[in-house]
Amino acid sequence: MKLLLLLTTLCVFFFQHYCEADHHKLVIIGAGSSGIAAATRLLENDFTDFIILEAENRTGGRIFSVPFGNGIVDLGAQFCQGEKNNIVYETVKDLDVLKHHDNGTYVNLYTKFKIDKNVTETINNLFDSIYENVEDDVKESSLQEYFVKRFTNAINKLYSDSPKLLEFAKDCTDFFLGAICSIEGAFNASDISPHESYEEIPGDQYMHWNGKGYKTFLDVLMKKYPNPNESLPIDDKILLNKEVANVDWRTENSNSSKVAIKCSNGETYYAEHVIVTVSLGVLKENLETMFNPRLPIEKVRAIEDIGFGAISEIHLWYEHSWWPENLTLMNFIWTEQERRTLRDNGLEWYLNVLSLAPQIGNRNELCLWIAGDDVPKIEQLPDSEILSGITYIFDLFLRKDYNITQPSKILRSKWHSQPHFRGSYSYPSIKMNANNTLREDLGNPLLYPNTTKPIVFFAGEATNPHHFATVHGATETGFREADRILKLYKTQ
Ligand SMILES: Cc1cc2nc3c(=O)[nH]c(=O)nc-3n(C[C@H](O)[C@H](O)[C@H](O)COP(=O)(O)OP(=O)(O)OC[C@H]3O[C@@H](n4cnc5c(N)ncnc54)[C@H](O)[C@@H]3O)c2cc1C
Ligand SMILES: *[C@@H]1O[C@H](CO)[C@@H](O)[C@H](O)[C@H]1NC(C)=O
Ligand SMILES: *[C@@H]1O[C@H](CO)[C@@H](O)[C@H](O)[C@H]1NC(C)=O
Ligand SMILES: *[C@@H]1O[C@H](CO)[C@@H](O)[C@H](O)[C@H]1NC(C)=O
Ligand SMILES: *[C@@H]1O[C@H](CO)[C@@H](O)[C@H](O)[C@H]1NC(C)=O
Ligand SMILES: *[C@@H]1O[C@H](CO)[C@@H](O)[C@H](O)[C@H]1NC(C)=O
Ligand SMILES: *[C@@H]1O[C@H](CO)[C@@H](O)[C@H](O)[C@H]1NC(C)=O
Ligand SMILES: *[C@@H]1O[C@H](CO)[C@@H](O)[C@H](O)[C@H]1NC(C)=O
Ligand SMILES: *[C@@H]1O[C@H](CO)[C@@H](O)[C@H](O)[C@H]1NC(C)=O
Ligand SMILES: *[C@@H]1O[C@H](CO)[C@@H](O)[C@H](O)[C@H]1NC(C)=O
Ligand SMILES: *[C@@H]1O[C@H](CO)[C@@H](O)[C@H](O)[C@H]1NC(C)=O
Repeated sequence: MKLLLLLTTLCVFFFQHYCEADHHKLVIIGAGSSGIAAATRLLENDFTDFIILEAENRTGGRIFSVPFGNGIVDLGAQFCQGEKNNIVYETVKDLDVLKHHDNGTYVNLYTKFKIDKNVTETINNLFDSIYENVEDDVKESSLQEYFVKRFTNAINKLYSDSPKLLEFAKDCTDFFLGAICSIEGAFNASDISPHESYEEIPGDQYMHWNGKGYKTFLDVLMKKYPNPNESLPIDDKILLNKEVANVDWRTENSNSSKVAIKCSNGETYYAEHVIVTVSLGVLKENLETMFNPRLPIEKVRAIEDIGFGAISEIHLWYEHSWWPENLTLMNFIWTEQERRTLRDNGLEWYLNVLSLAPQIGNRNELCLWIAGDDVPKIEQLPDSEILSGITYIFDLFLRKDYNITQPSKILRSKWHSQPHFRGSYSYPSIKMNANNTLREDLGNPLLYPNTTKPIVFFAGEATNPHHFATVHGATETGFREADRILKLYKTQ
């Protein structure tokens, strides 16, 4: 028995160290949108000698559709943003899986006391007009500075003869800064550059997956949907639970043009080329250890300068809904007095709970949106503390109108705490401005020394110059790098 075991061990050792089975033309690191997009593009062009190493025990990455209550919720990407020329929209448009948002979800600023709808609409429109039309020759150094200056000026004029409304409008400032953090994915709006390179794709920005989850898109991409018989042979190329610890792209020391990809579990895979798709948060955290030799200075600078924060969501499921069917998005506006009380009690994280929204397509579910400095701390809190915070907030804002009950289930996203993500999506930070850093610096491949031959490729949301922070942006970069590799082999 012992001998057999020893023999097996020896065989495994032999296999791992000398067998060419672990050598591929290409290794893709990460099976999120960009990794899967690259793989499908390659397979459709009969490029089959590759594997995908994925650290998690699932595919999808920041697309994470999970069962909850009696439906499916998305803990990551939720909406398809834009229509014509949006790669996600174009891929699924004939399949009737994507639905337009309904107009009920207009922004509603919510306080303890009643505020005239006219006023809340005026203030909302003011926010939109400032945030969506940032001038090109901005003087201010951050989006926070830019926004607060214009917003304060405007409300001072608008409500000069109504101290109560002016007070309310001032109280809205912090909410809007939170909303900016939530949209941009930053912890603090003072770290966001006012110079935006993001290009919004025209059309509905809030199309949803009709209760089926964003993973529907990946299924369509892999041709598992609508007819599973036409699936691309991708599943057997994906190896789960393979956390890559190091990419050794030294070429002097290895015989052929091999990159050694070392996993945390001790396994090593060899390839001619690698596509790295891990999040910018993972790159930031592992900058010193993940690449051997160290990355060139432009790449290091891009990884350090491009912003990467986190937002969070809390999903609540109730046996019986206590809210009306027509409940819309509610944004919590705290007064100065309320804010002070929270700070005095060490509960300022409540202020990062921005909005309450009903879950589209599920009458028993509510979703809370959270953004700001305290997101990392909030992720660490136990459910019990989160629930008492929610009770406090609901009592303060909603008790007067509704008979609130306790949720029977809670589900929270924790992107920042997870070592394979370390946050939600990238944003233009003020450092990029100061150092003139471009996303292309992150997306450009590493070349063999003294040649123009690329060896390590970079894809992923953060490498997209104009569509970063989105699924369509990540998908575009997967296609981009796959095309680069196909071209390389075509000309050889
Ligand atoms: C809360 C939230 C809400 C969002 N909302 C939207 C939205 O409404 N609309 C929209 O378009 N976009 C949205 N996004 C953004 C969108 O989800 C991402 O831009 C996109 O999914 C990123 O894909 P990716 O391939 O670049 O990266 P990822 O999906 O992160 O893929 C990278 C993969 O690499 C793996 N990995 C990490 N480290 C290692 C390692 N060491 N070894 C091996 N594998 C590793 C990860 O597990 C992951 O699977 C949202 C994101 C979040 C977090
Ligand atoms: C995947 O890992 C998570 C913990 O990280 C665990 O809760 C879950 O059950 C695992 N799923 C599978 C299918 O192994
Ligand atoms: C929402 O409202 C706009 C104009 O107010 C209208 O054109 C659009 O069709 C509406 N969308 C839906 C889904 O009802
Ligand atoms: C609503 O606002 C408009 C202009 O902003 C004003 O003309 C109108 O009188 C206001 N209506 C009410 C009911 O206050
Ligand atoms: C954001 O950062 C600035 C300084 O960079 C700080 O003064 C401010 O308090 C922060 N905002 C929040 C909401 O913590
Ligand atoms: C898929 O293949 C099976 C077996 O070949 C066949 O019975 C089935 O009809 C096919 N389904 C579709 C949707 O084509
Ligand atoms: C490279 O390969 C050749 C032949 O395959 C072998 O003779 C040589 O020792 C190898 N060199 C190194 C440094 O591994
Ligand atoms: C929602 O419905 C209730 C009745 O259930 C009604 O009183 C209220 O005005 C409606 N609100 C909106 C915003 O339509
Ligand atoms: C809340 O419950 C009380 C007592 O049962 C009832 O009188 C009241 O109408 C309810 N309020 C709402 C908003 O449903
Ligand atoms: C430039 O980038 C470096 C790190 O890449 C950073 O430490 C520095 O603060 C940046 N410069 C400015 C002026 O922001
Ligand atoms: C690349 O070029 C530099 C200077 O021209 C030289 O010192 C270095 O050895 C070269 N590297 C390789 C791998 O050829």
